[in-house]
Amino acid sequence: MTDSSRRPETMEEKDVIDLLLAQHAMIRDMFDEVEQAGPEERGPAFTRLVRLLAVHETAEEEIVHPYVRKVVDGGDAVVDDRLAEERQAKELLQRLEEAGPDAPDFLERLALLRAAVTAHARSEERYEFVRLRAETGPAERRAMAAGVKAAEALAPTHPHPGVESATMNLLVGTPVAMVDRIRDVIRQAMR
Ligand SMILES: [Fe+2]
Ligand SMILES: [Fe+2]
Repeated sequence: MTDSSRRPETMEEKDVIDLLLAQHAMIRDMFDEVEQAGPEERGPAFTRLVRLLAVHETAEEEIVHPYVRKVVDGGDAVVDDRLAEERQAKELLQRLEEAGPDAPDFLERLALLRAAVTAHARSEERYEFVRLRAETGPAERRAMAAGVKAAEALAPTHPHPGVESATMNLLVGTPVAMVDRIRDVIRQAMR
C-alpha cells in the first residue's frame, strides 16, 4: 500500500530529473491504488490520481518542455511528440470520465489510460530527460526543480490547512474539468 498523503510539491529531490522520475513512480503507485481500491474507495482514489496527473503534466508543460525546446538540439520535435502523447492520455481520461468509476468496464478503461501514461513517462525518460541531463548543469537542474515544485504548489493535490476553500474549488467537478482548472490556475499564476 502506498502513502497517499505524499505531495509532489514537497518532495525532497533537488535535481529536476530526479524529481520527475520520483513523480513518475508516485503516479505508478497511484494507479496501483485505484486498481486495488474497493468499491467505496475507488472514486476518491481515482480523483487523487487525476489531481496528481494534472499538476505533474502541467508543470512539465510549463517549465520542462519549454526549456528542452530552448537548450536541446532538435528539442522541438522531442517536445511535440511528448505533447501529442499527453493529449492522447487526456482523451482516454475523457472516456473514463464518461463511464464513471462505477462502470463495469472502468478497470479496462483505466488499464488503457495507464498504458498510455506509462508509455509517455518512459518516452520522456528515454528521449527527453536524457537529453536534458546532457545539455544542462546541476545548478540549472536545481533551479528547474524549484520551479516545478513552485508550480505544483499553486494547485496543490491536497488541501493545505487555511486554504481549504480556495483549493477545494479546484478539486470539484469532473476529472477533465479538474485537469483544465488546475492547468489554468498554474498558467495564470506563472505569467
Ligand atoms: Fe508528461
Ligand atoms: Fe512526466
